[in-house]
Amino acid sequence: MNGAVTARDLLDLGTRRLADAGVENARRESEWIAGHVLGLSRSALYAAPERRLDIGDVQAAEALLVRREAREPLAYVLGEWGFRRLTLKTDARALVPRPETEIVVERVLALLQETEAPRVLDIGVGSGAIALSVKDERPDAKVTAVDVSTDALSLARENAARLGLEVELREQGVDAAGEGWDLVVSNPPYVDTLDGLQPELGFEPERALIGDGFHELIARTARTRFLVLEVGDGQAGPVAATLELAGYGDVTITCDLADVERVVEGSR
Ligand SMILES: C[S@@+](CC[C@H](N)C(=O)[O-])C[C@H]1O[C@@H](n2cnc3c(N)ncnc32)[C@H](O)[C@@H]1O
Repeated sequence: MNGAVTARDLLDLGTRRLADAGVENARRESEWIAGHVLGLSRSALYAAPERRLDIGDVQAAEALLVRREAREPLAYVLGEWGFRRLTLKTDARALVPRPETEIVVERVLALLQETEAPRVLDIGVGSGAIALSVKDERPDAKVTAVDVSTDALSLARENAARLGLEVELREQGVDAAGEGWDLVVSNPPYVDTLDGLQPELGFEPERALIGDGFHELIARTARTRFLVLEVGDGQAGPVAATLELAGYGDVTITCDLADVERVVEGSR
């Protein structure tokens, strides 16, 4: 990019370049990048299409576009991402919080309606999406979150501090589930291979994505009244059966907004 560049030029150029790179929602993502660089909302961006970019804006936009053209996830490129009511810092230390995981939090809040000051454990905290949202939306909850990744824990810690949310963060694995809780929640690694999946996944920590047998291990280990697990495509039925075998009742499957069976819960 050079010469006198306007907001409209940036939007159009970004759309073309991202589409050429195979990004699905190229126009929308170009809007995100332009809005981020110029500090404008989408509507403000379209209200000022002739706004000139200064050289710093052009360089910043170029740097972000190059990263996104390489198919780095938009959330890492922008450095922050919305999840429920929170804006979380996002980078390659942890998984990008997904919209479907917002339904996991929805189920946690519904199950805890009748429990005062619930003790909640989140296994595999990542950026802090689930644990921090539960604390944000149920301030009386005592939330503990564990992860085996020190990188993820450092990002979750930064997010907790930025948002002023008090959550206990520990470097620990699934064994924490055995300590006794009102509710255990987890979005564990549940993908078997990244082959054939979108290139963005290659930028995320492998051990946040690839995993096998976590749902069963958590269900068997947990000492808890309620258990809420996010599952991958096609896993809901087998995981629900696992919960029943492990002695949970009221086993329920909830779909995400794309109508995919995404959350399995039970109680005992
Ligand atoms: C799918 S990510 C979920 C991150 C976050 N909770 C979210 O929903 O965005 C799974 C997380 O589990 C962590 N993890 C992997 N193996 C683990 C283990 N054995 N015990 C605890 N956490 C683990 C990974 O480091 C990663 O942060």
